[in-house]
Amino acid sequence: MIAPDPLPLTPAHAALAAHIHAAAFPAGEAWSASAFATLLTLTGVLGWIMPDAAGLLLARHVLDEAELLTLAILPERQRQGLGRRLVQTWIMATEHAGIARLYLEVSDRNRAASALYASLGFHPHGTRKAYYKDGSAARLLVRAGARDADRISPPFR
Ligand SMILES: CC(C)(COP(=O)(O)OP(=O)(O)OC[C@H]1O[C@@H](n2cnc3c(N)ncnc32)[C@H](O)[C@@H]1OP(=O)(O)O)[C@@H](O)C(=O)NCCC(=O)NCCS
Repeated sequence: MIAPDPLPLTPAHAALAAHIHAAAFPAGEAWSASAFATLLTLTGVLGWIMPDAAGLLLARHVLDEAELLTLAILPERQRQGLGRRLVQTWIMATEHAGIARLYLEVSDRNRAASALYASLGFHPHGTRKAYYKDGSAARLLVRAGARDADRISPPFR
């Protein structure tokens, strides 16, 4: 199944975004509508939502670096290619923006997300022990942007 084009995420989507986030993450880790509304007014923060509100991605671009802030797909819509579609949309946007490095953090217990990111070219860049509320470690991943794709040597590529 080919996923439809995601739409730009705006403050008007804040309530929908909070609903998706609460459904995808454990209680206590969900972001509120006001948090999304505030984040989406900040310079460099941008995101996408699926047209049927099945998932979203939020990122921040600062100079030539980009960071994934959150990615969430409704549980009943997971494993349908939506997460991949959203991350690919973000990667394309970073290419247009001349971003050199893309960063993200993922729990070392999150196999689904780790497999998704690895399949899209993200590589380990460090670990923060006991970073998340459940005691799991955060793995910091990095991907070369289009600008630096030819200049970064292992282990960053
Ligand atoms: C992680 C998440 C965003 C993946 O989104 P998704 O739409 O279900 O993923 P996709 O259907 O696009 O799958 C893309 C790839 O991810 C991996 N993947 C996704 N779900 C997986 C699972 N349950 N187990 C193992 N690998 C999985 C696979 O490599 C998959 O490719 P394949 O289908 O060709 O095998 C989604 O499961 C989610 O929202 N989880 C809860 C919130 C979360 O963990 N967010 C990320 C925080 S860093």
